[in-house]
Amino acid sequence: MNLIITNISQLVTVASGGRRLKAGREMNTIEVMDNASVEIRDGIIVRIAGAGEIQPAATDDIDVLDARGRVALPGFVDSHTHAVFAGSRENEFALRSEGRSYQEIAAAGGGILSTMAATRAATKKELLRSGNRRLNDMMKHGTTTAEIKSGYGLTPEAEVKMLDVICELRRDHFMTVVPTFLGAHAVPPEFSGRSEQYVSLICEHMIPHIAERKLAEFCDVFCEEKYFTREETETILQAAQHNGMRAKLHADQLTSSGGAELAVRLNAVSVDHCEMISPEGIAALAGSSAVATLLPGSSFFLNHAYAPARTMIDAGCAVAIATDFNPGSCMSFSMPTMMTIACTHMRMTPEEAITAATLNGAAAIGLSAEYGSIEVGKRADIVLYDVPNYRYIPYHFGMNHVWKVVKNGTVLEF
Ligand code: NIG
Ligand code: FE
Repeated sequence: MNLIITNISQLVTVASGGRRLKAGREMNTIEVMDNASVEIRDGIIVRIAGAGEIQPAATDDIDVLDARGRVALPGFVDSHTHAVFAGSRENEFALRSEGRSYQEIAAAGGGILSTMAATRAATKKELLRSGNRRLNDMMKHGTTTAEIKSGYGLTPEAEVKMLDVICELRRDHFMTVVPTFLGAHAVPPEFSGRSEQYVSLICEHMIPHIAERKLAEFCDVFCEEKYFTREETETILQAAQHNGMRAKLHADQLTSSGGAELAVRLNAVSVDHCEMISPEGIAALAGSSAVATLLPGSSFFLNHAYAPARTMIDAGCAVAIATDFNPGSCMSFSMPTMMTIACTHMRMTPEEAITAATLNGAAAIGLSAEYGSIEVGKRADIVLYDVPNYRYIPYHFGMNHVWKVVKNGTVLEF
């Protein structure tokens, strides 16, 4: 598919000049071109022209999309989601409004284990149908790449069922999907009080099987009090790396546990959450190649502390933002909403939020050589918005400004 997009009033490229990500102060530079056009051949960007330059011309073998003054950004990369699940937890939402905490609700049998029960009971077909619908809706809101975790099965069969669904979505959906194995999301009830046996099952059985079938690129662990200790996290992630999966961590979310420091030591690609990260954790991250994936929606939805994004960026960390979309701690897949919260509650600038939601998100799932910015040689994932300028996207929150989504050079019809 060949395409020229013309008359883009502001083209926000987030160009990185070939670098994997932007860290610290660089995050505030997003490279905006006025009156621009983009030429795409076979799904790849081949030419970008700005005001005063010779614009690419239409030929017989190329379609033209006239943006008529719309604003273009790279498609969002939602690098942390739990978008495949069954059931819903609006009852917990109501309980929290009455003052009950996420941890209290989990201890009373709700939380991750409640979604686990619903997901275990669901068929593959049901999970595929709801997952497919969610991915369509995510694309309508400007997301063109999404990581999806397992973690609501918590048996070898049910985890593989989830990963099969995620891999089928990866194969058949327009969205670029990256699968992550999160067998260590919670200790399932069958192993209550015997977490070491569940960890052995993960390391000796689940990881080798999943690696052999190539069902996941990353392995993630919920490193947290009452979930998995630092030692267990290390055991699991070393087994995963030994089997060719790269490491991610849910760390320092509810308590400060030294998760960020551990992530750096284990050479993790990203450390996610970081609401309770320590000054030592920030220093370790700033001196490493790991991406700090912050999840503004889960702090907002649970009314928890926000990750110290300002301090982290000022210290030189590379920050990504993602939705954490899941039925418990963030029932939203809207990346623009996450940007709004990052700006209002975490003191990120709109420019930093854009970098965090695109290029750095792609780096957090190892895809920034192909995705996350609008540059010659990269895939043409470009979203056009009906707004006067790019700052309107986080500013005018709570509505969808997307006009058209171009995925791999194809203009999608919804
Ligand atoms: O990232 N922290 C652990 N996992 C999810 C919550 C999952 C759930 O509550 O179902 C999170 O917030
Ligand atoms: Fe999560």
